[in-house]
Amino acid sequence: MELAKIKGTKDIFGKESLAWQKIESLARKTAYSFHLSEIRTPAFEYTDVFKRAIGQETDIVSKEMFEFSDRGGRNLSLRPEGTAGVVRALIENSLYRTEIPRFFYIGPMFRAERPQKGRQRQFHQIGIEIFDEPSAYADLDVILFNLELLASLGLNDFVLKLNSVGCPNCRPSYLQKLKTFLEPHLPELCPNCQTRFQSNPLRVLDCKEEKCRNITKSAPSILDALCDECAGHFNLLKKMLANLQVPFELDTSIVRGLDYYTKTVFEIQLSGLGAQNAVCGGGRYDGLVSFFDPKVSLPAVGSAIGFERLFLALESAGILPQEDDSLDFYLIVDPKFDKTEILPVLREIRKSGFSARMDESSKNIGKQFKEANRLNSKKTLIFGEDELKTGKVSVKDMKSGAQNTVTLEVFLHSLVI
Ligand code: HAM
Repeated sequence: MELAKIKGTKDIFGKESLAWQKIESLARKTAYSFHLSEIRTPAFEYTDVFKRAIGQETDIVSKEMFEFSDRGGRNLSLRPEGTAGVVRALIENSLYRTEIPRFFYIGPMFRAERPQKGRQRQFHQIGIEIFDEPSAYADLDVILFNLELLASLGLNDFVLKLNSVGCPNCRPSYLQKLKTFLEPHLPELCPNCQTRFQSNPLRVLDCKEEKCRNITKSAPSILDALCDECAGHFNLLKKMLANLQVPFELDTSIVRGLDYYTKTVFEIQLSGLGAQNAVCGGGRYDGLVSFFDPKVSLPAVGSAIGFERLFLALESAGILPQEDDSLDFYLIVDPKFDKTEILPVLREIRKSGFSARMDESSKNIGKQFKEANRLNSKKTLIFGEDELKTGKVSVKDMKSGAQNTVTLEVFLHSLVI
C-alpha cells in the first residue's frame, strides 16, 4: 500500500494554512458585499450530472474525471467543477422559489490532469453562480466580484479577456462558417483539433499549438456573427466596463472548455503564473438549467477562481497574506506550586478570545521561559511564589522585556480583544 500523498494533491498547514484562511475570509467578505450566499454541495455526484452539464465530448468529462462505481454499482464522479452541482441543487431543492439564487462556494475540485505548476488533481475553487438575472448587469457583477477580490489581495497585474460565444440562435451559423474556413486547413491542424473539428469546432480556436494558432488567426470572428440580442447584451457589458474604467481585451480565442456557455465568456489571466496563467474563468449559461429540467428555465452566469493559482500569484508577487501565528499568553508557574489552581485563569483567557498555553510538565522556570520563546509567545504570565501568595500575576512583554505586577482581577478585566 502506498503511504504517500497522491500525485497532484497537496497538504496545507502552518503559515500556508493561515494564508488560506485570510484569502477565504476576504472571499467571504467580497461575497457578502455582492449579496451572495454560501452553498455547499457534495464533493461527488452521479456522473450524469457532470456529463449533462459540462458536455460528454469535453476534455473534462471524457478524459479528466475521477469516475468510479460505488458498492451499489452506481456510477459516480468526484466533482471536476462547481457549476453542475449547484445547478443540480438549485433544481432539486427548488432554490429559485425559496432563496435569492445568488450563490458562492469555496471547495475542492478534482481533475485527472497531468500535474504541473498551477495544475493539480485536487485543487480548490472560489466560485459564484447568479441565477434568474438575464441582463448584462449580472455578468458585470460576476466580473467585478473577481476583480474586487483580486484587488483586495493586492493583485493588480492581470488582464481581463472577454468574448461572446453567442446563443443557439446565432452560434450554429457561425460554426458552419468556421468549419468552412477550417476545412481546407484540416491536414495541418494538430490531431486534437482534427477531432475537435467534428465534435466542437469552437475549441479549435483556443488550441495552444502554434501551427493551429497561425491558422485560426485569420478565422472569421464570432463577434461579427452575433444575433442582435447577443450583440446588444455584449455591447451593454462593454459599455459598463468602460464607464467603470475597467480595462479589458477582446479575445475570440476565449471559448472555454465547458459546453454550457452562452453569450459572455471571460478569463482573468495573471502574469507570473507561467503556462497556467488563467486564474479565473466564467461566463453566462442561460440554457443549462432548462437542459437539466425543461420545466424550469432560468438564465445564469458565474465564474470560478482557482485557489492554488491565486496563491502562486500572490507568492510570486511577494504579497501572500502574512498571518500572525504567535501565542498571546504563555503561563509560567513556579513548579513548587499546584498548577491545577491556575487552570481557571487559563480557561478565562481563552474564553476572552486570546490564545494561551501553560506548561504541562513541571519544568523549572528557566525552561518555561525557553518554551514561551519557542512558541513565539507575545506575553508571559508569571505565577511565582510572591504572586501566588498575594493573588497577583506578573505580566511580561516578551519583546520589550517590560514587566508589571497586577491583581488577577485587574488582569482578567484587561482582556479585551
Ligand atoms: P474552469 O475554467 O474550468 O471553469 O476553472 C476555473 C478556474 O479553476 C481556472 O481558471 C483555474 O484557475 C482553476 N483550475 C482549473 N483546473 C485546475 C487544475 N487542474 N489545477 C488548478 N487549478 C485549476 C470552471 O470550472 C467553471 N465551473 C467556472 C464557472 C462557474 N463558469 C460559470 N460558473
